[in-house]
Amino acid sequence: MTSVLAIACSPAGARSASGTAGDLLLERLRARDPDIAVVRRDLGVTPPAFVDAGFAAAMLVTEGERTAGQTAALAESECLIAELEATDLLVLSTPMHNFTVPAVLKAWIDQVLRVERTFRRTPAGKVGGLRDRPTYVVVASGGRVIGDLARQPDFLTPYLTAVLATLGIRTVRFLHLEGLGADPAKAARVAAETRAWLDAQLPLPRPTALSDG
Ligand SMILES: Cc1cc2nc3c(=O)[nH]c(=O)nc-3n(C[C@H](O)[C@H](O)[C@H](O)COP(=O)(O)O)c2cc1C
Repeated sequence: MTSVLAIACSPAGARSASGTAGDLLLERLRARDPDIAVVRRDLGVTPPAFVDAGFAAAMLVTEGERTAGQTAALAESECLIAELEATDLLVLSTPMHNFTVPAVLKAWIDQVLRVERTFRRTPAGKVGGLRDRPTYVVVASGGRVIGDLARQPDFLTPYLTAVLATLGIRTVRFLHLEGLGADPAKAARVAAETRAWLDAQLPLPRPTALSDG
């Protein structure tokens, strides 16, 4: 059975453009493989804790040498990392906030991208400790952020690409839903653009011809 971790990051809940697109992606994955097991984590509803002094100190102590307090300080991090380690496929849906990821997603990154846990420092740079796995990132933005029509910087795409690569995840595809801000037909456009993208990225297998034997 394929396990899928679906992470949503919008504060807009059910009205969220990125979340809606992420759900369409899950629908397509299910149509291809009805047996997938989906674990949902909605960071917009339940944000991870911000890193504090206890966490920053504990993460530098080797596992076997941590006190009970230090182990407790890393408990949420271990839980979120375990979720990531267990998944075969990752779906990350997020709005752009102020040119980059929302604070809740940055908090999640600080919990899971941990030195000597999910990546190692080497003379050649940081090396990811997780196995690669297919990852789909859906980004919703009010304005245009990609290509000639962009009138603002996009720090989100290169940043998330670097974060995922540092974890060891390099098979990443982005869907950008742009210019949603003032569009009265936003919901219809999100659905149409997502379905068109899915047709290109995750086409449904042709129905097998029925045997007349
Ligand atoms: C705090 C905040 C910051 C935002 N910053 C940007 C931005 O930098 N660039 C942009 O194009 N849109 C920005 N937006 C608009 C959202 O990206 C846009 O409304 C998006 O469709 C929201 O996706 P969601 O419905 O999945 O939350 C911002 C929205 C909020 C609430």
